[in-house]
Amino acid sequence: MKKILVTGGAGFIGSHLVRLLVKKYPDTLFVNLDNLTYAGNLANLTDISSEPNYEFVKGDIVDEDFIMATFDAYRFEGVIHLAAESHVDRSIASPKEFIMTNIVGTVNLLNAARFYWKDNFEGKRFYHVSTDEVYGSLGDEGKFLETTPYDPRSPYSASKASSDHLVRAYHHTYGLPVVISNCSNNYGPNQFPEKLIPLILNNIRHNKPLPVYGQGTNIRDWLYVVDHAKAIDLIYQKGINGETYNIGGNNERQNIDIVKTLCRIMDRQLGRPEGDSEKLITYVKDRAGHDLRYAIDATKIYEQLGWQPEVQFNDGFEKTVAWYLENQQWLDEVTSGNYLKYYDKMYRER
Ligand code: NAD
Ligand code: TYD
Repeated sequence: MKKILVTGGAGFIGSHLVRLLVKKYPDTLFVNLDNLTYAGNLANLTDISSEPNYEFVKGDIVDEDFIMATFDAYRFEGVIHLAAESHVDRSIASPKEFIMTNIVGTVNLLNAARFYWKDNFEGKRFYHVSTDEVYGSLGDEGKFLETTPYDPRSPYSASKASSDHLVRAYHHTYGLPVVISNCSNNYGPNQFPEKLIPLILNNIRHNKPLPVYGQGTNIRDWLYVVDHAKAIDLIYQKGINGETYNIGGNNERQNIDIVKTLCRIMDRQLGRPEGDSEKLITYVKDRAGHDLRYAIDATKIYEQLGWQPEVQFNDGFEKTVAWYLENQQWLDEVTSGNYLKYYDKMYRER
């Protein structure tokens, strides 16, 4: 059986990707390697966990010996690398974990792939999943292209940019067959409620203040997570080695509009009077170095591989809210314990 390693498969995007791949390719074994940090949750994958072409391995990509031993045991033909520290606010509070996981962890995987593929790269592929945040911040005009110079501005985006450069360097220097994609903000089920959309949903549920950073006018380009997973599958199958593909939702919104839309949908779904949840909106101290606007130009992946988002924003948003309301136990579980400490610390001083 062909074996593909997926790192970070217990996280938000990784779990949607693993589900898609396990169902679509029954003749390939997908090994999900994840350290189950606060953001990783095997409950995201209960529906596919006993499939014969799925295995879970718990471990840290920063642990070089463990990574080499795992490659030795499985002899993967491909790697799809998503494991990362992924939250900008945490990177501002504590950059070093981001350097370790996002940079050192990526190098460990690159080295293992290079060693076990022994410079015979036929049929092999190393796919690095990255973010649009490496391109920096836009003004009112323009969009990020694959050729936009890197200009990362948070410890998170700097660590992802660094890993992207290393992946490209291994391609140019050693010929490692790599592809990279840089995607805009994802939303959907199973996202950890430190990120804007699930955090706001969770706070509305508990009648807690809805923290909007600064004026709420920062803009993100939102994509439904399953559309991202489909793009990753397509790029893994059809992308060209050495190339980068931008993935985006073509769907820019100001944060305050996202928050108000969530309030309206939640009022309706919870049977609250119209306008009730909006009263919870609280403008708080802005994020340090807060990037103003992200927007992706996804022409390349559309023209070369035929990908475009399938889920319209309104449908995706309704589906997302419905999922969190139907899965309140999931939210309760991930927001108990350490989450409360995190929330208190992060938002006390805002
Ligand atoms: P996430 O934080 O939900 O999940 C990350 C996963 O990686 C978790 O399961 C965690 O346990 C695992 N992990 C973290 N450190 C690890 C380590 N040292 N060893 C092994 N596993 C480890 O993140 P996400 O939102 O699903 O993002 C996945 C990837 O996609 C990341 O590389 C991120 O940079 C990228 N990305 C995310 C978005 C987004 O909007 N969320 C957009 C574009 C790109
Ligand atoms: P986030 O979900 O953290 O994603 P990213 O910073 O990677 O884009 O934040 C999305 C936007 O929402 C970003 O502009 C910061 C803002 N934001 C808030 O206004 N309040 C919050 O509590 C959070 C977590 C984010």
